[in-house]
Amino acid sequence: MTNIVCIGAGYVGGPTMAVIADKCKDCRVTVVDINSKRIDAWNSDSLPVYEPGLDEVVFRNRGKNLFYSTDIPAAIKAADIIFVSVNTPTKTFGSGAGKAADLQFLEKTARSIVEYAEGDKIVVEKSTLPVRTAQALSQVLHANTRGLKFQIVSNPEFLAEGTAIEDLNHPDRVLIGGMDTPEGHAAVDKVADIYRHWVPEDRIITTNLWSSELTKLVSNALLAQRVSSVNSISALCEKTGADIDQVASVAGRDSRIGARFLKAGLGFGGSCFKKDILNLVYLCEHYGLPEVAAYWESVVKINDYQATRFVGNMLSSMFNTVADKKIAILGFAFKSDTGDTRESPAIAVCRQLLDEHARLYVHDPKALENAKLDLAGCENVTFCEDPYEAVKGVHALVIATAWNSFKDLDYKRIYDLMEKPAFIFDGRNLLDAEEMYEIGFNVYGIGKEPKTRFRK
Ligand code: NAD
Ligand code: UDX
Repeated sequence: MTNIVCIGAGYVGGPTMAVIADKCKDCRVTVVDINSKRIDAWNSDSLPVYEPGLDEVVFRNRGKNLFYSTDIPAAIKAADIIFVSVNTPTKTFGSGAGKAADLQFLEKTARSIVEYAEGDKIVVEKSTLPVRTAQALSQVLHANTRGLKFQIVSNPEFLAEGTAIEDLNHPDRVLIGGMDTPEGHAAVDKVADIYRHWVPEDRIITTNLWSSELTKLVSNALLAQRVSSVNSISALCEKTGADIDQVASVAGRDSRIGARFLKAGLGFGGSCFKKDILNLVYLCEHYGLPEVAAYWESVVKINDYQATRFVGNMLSSMFNTVADKKIAILGFAFKSDTGDTRESPAIAVCRQLLDEHARLYVHDPKALENAKLDLAGCENVTFCEDPYEAVKGVHALVIATAWNSFKDLDYKRIYDLMEKPAFIFDGRNLLDAEEMYEIGFNVYGIGKEPKTRFRK
């Protein structure tokens, strides 16, 4: 039986290992973390991560061949293959602050592996890392004085939150990078064996280590670039009467462009896109490529601009003041089907509205607890479990996350509960603007002509 250990029980480690345990009954999978609260939650009925389908996979395998534990030394000792899935946030201090990846958690993990390992191991980079991190990792691991040998393999994760289980069950591709040596090839093959339990061979792609590390950063950068591209054009649509959904859908019909990932909105959020692009920018600067760095940095700049532009539009539409006005924020998660709010554009929108002295009423089906943490210390914010509570007496309603359930709310009832004139600012182009206008709302989407009852 292969003993698989994953260090880091977060949004990636927890679900990824649950699916590996589900598919590989001949493997024993242990997920460890220094955060005992998180491990307790993984061992409880209320998992620390909300993902459609996750509960079923965990509950079906936990205690059989899937274990969540804080006993890191024992897990490392027993492991054949160690996945490292710790957080790699943007550095907030010292050299490279604001761009470079903070690799302290990765290095501490490597040092734990060296401390507790009693035999040779395969160490798999699951975290997203700067290209050439494997070299540093290898140096830390091989500084051991006991002659232990480690093979470093890169196996970045491509799951998206909200669809993690589906993405893990049916990945477009699994990428495995290793050293170009016989031992390196053997280690890659051993990791590939795990995925061969359910992923077709032609979807398991092997490359050298550096290509694998860089591909992960580039994949996220290319996806984020599409979002910024379409959002930049949404600004032009608002000036010209073109409609961004029409433009994007027709442009996307060209098979060279493709239809997906062209939805204009408040901008991309989530723990990955911004962090990984900034990491790419830092790497380009480090390697003396300032033009390339500036190109990718503009993707983040457009993203910040989109949220600011949205609040600017709100302000000018609401007679240039929102001071003391009540505003409902429907949705706080960075996307639908997750409770994760990391880098959610809702945070920037709320903070800018609070700077304008608005009073906010925030509702989200899954992210209210995280929203409270994100807006901790802010006055004039009320958190509402019930969307109809949130809209009572408000001047405007903002759709900040594209939760499907928001489409099914009773907007006639909402209109009646609101101050008049009633405004909808649909930051995700989720609602049927014509229908909302017919109810009586003044409707503002992204990259769309506003539908208002005001005389021009
Ligand atoms: P996370 O913050 O949710 O989880 C990381 C976990 O690692 C935490 O629970 C933390 O306590 C633990 N940890 C940190 N240092 C440790 C140590 N020394 N020993 C044991 N545990 C330790 O992060 P995440 O969202 O799961 O992301 C993990 C990595 O995967 C990051 O590099 C991220 O960029 C990448 N990634 C994330 C996603 C995503 O959708 N969230 C997708 C693909 C890749
Ligand atoms: C992303 C990558 O998709 C995934 O492959 C990687 O492993 C982790 O980073 P994630 O951030 O979880 O996944 O979600 P994703 O679906 O990519 O959405 C990211 C952000 O972009 C969200 O805020 C979403 O609302 C926004 N987005 C996405 C748009 O605004 N328009 C789109 O067309 C698509």
